[in-house]
Amino acid sequence: MKLKSGHESVHLQGPEMEKQAKDFRGYEKGLVRLHPGRWLFTPNFEKFADGLYTFKYKSSDVVIMTWPKCGTTWTQEVVWTMRNNPDLNNSDALLDIRQRSPFIESDMFKPIPAMDDTTSKNPYLENFRKRCPGKDPADGIVLQMAALYPDPRTIKTHLPLSLMPPTLLDTTKVVYVARNPKDVVVSFHHHSRVMKESDYVGHFDDFVQYFVDDDLLYGPYWLHLKEAWEKREHPNLHFIFYEDLKGNTLEELKKLDTFLGTNLTEAQLKGILKYTSFEEMKARDEKIQKESEWFKVSRNVDIVEKEGGLFRKGQAGDWKNKLTPEQVEKMDIWTRNNLSSLGLDFKYGL
Ligand code: A3P
Repeated sequence: MKLKSGHESVHLQGPEMEKQAKDFRGYEKGLVRLHPGRWLFTPNFEKFADGLYTFKYKSSDVVIMTWPKCGTTWTQEVVWTMRNNPDLNNSDALLDIRQRSPFIESDMFKPIPAMDDTTSKNPYLENFRKRCPGKDPADGIVLQMAALYPDPRTIKTHLPLSLMPPTLLDTTKVVYVARNPKDVVVSFHHHSRVMKESDYVGHFDDFVQYFVDDDLLYGPYWLHLKEAWEKREHPNLHFIFYEDLKGNTLEELKKLDTFLGTNLTEAQLKGILKYTSFEEMKARDEKIQKESEWFKVSRNVDIVEKEGGLFRKGQAGDWKNKLTPEQVEKMDIWTRNNLSSLGLDFKYGL
């Protein structure tokens, strides 16, 4: 199938799809790969790809763009708070981040219900019925609701620049967050076991292999990074490394303040730093999840109870406790190859 972005979408078939479906029980409906790029998505992505590519971004929007597990939620919360809650007194802040900051392509992870479906477990359908009467859920529930979000919107995506509107950076500020891929693979492995939409039941070693083969959902880590890295001098693109945000948070918040034009005081930034710390975000998230029906529907609760939820460790370098020397070597070779062939100057890869 040809998409408006110019990509050709092809359904995975044969032994490749069989292996994926055996290891990821959540991928029973298949996967699609987009060429060029080898981006990997759920089949429903085909339904929303054109809407995502032509979505109308505004100059007041900020897009948080990452490969999964690079610190998206943290950056979303920091940016949302800087813009909407600098004095930490906005009661909307108690809502789940997903309700305040749309995850623009997330419709591809959920079954598409009919408007009058009373049995659907889609957590956004009820709200969609109220806010988008007459619209068709098949055109994207989150996607269509995102168009109606109040300004200023902070929008999350894991899509690479090449699948976003080509004029995005002309109109809209983008914050791109990158993270050492060794921590990414550890974090994504946990995520893929916790989330029923992926339900990974294979070995960790195979998961590392999927990653270096660019065969995990969303596809090539390095190409995703490269597309943004090439635009790093663009005034509307701001690059953050998870490791810098962790190691020197106040400095990074000051840089963000300049980029976003929020003009916050040092006292406000320090308040936000504490409010968006791992411990405080994790505590607030646990409270929200406890009260959420969708949490039980979407997560493997036994894994969350034994090994923690998506706020797992929140550290830079936890890979040292998880990767074997062989896995480290495999990832180092892969990283060196990619760094040299892509011409990237990426300080946290090795
Ligand atoms: P770990 O699994 O290594 O703990 P994303 O939001 O892109 O899915 O990234 C998730 C990763 O960011 C997880 O990493 C999570 O713990 C970490 N994280 C979330 N909030 C954080 C915070 N406030 N400070 C540091 N790390 C945070």
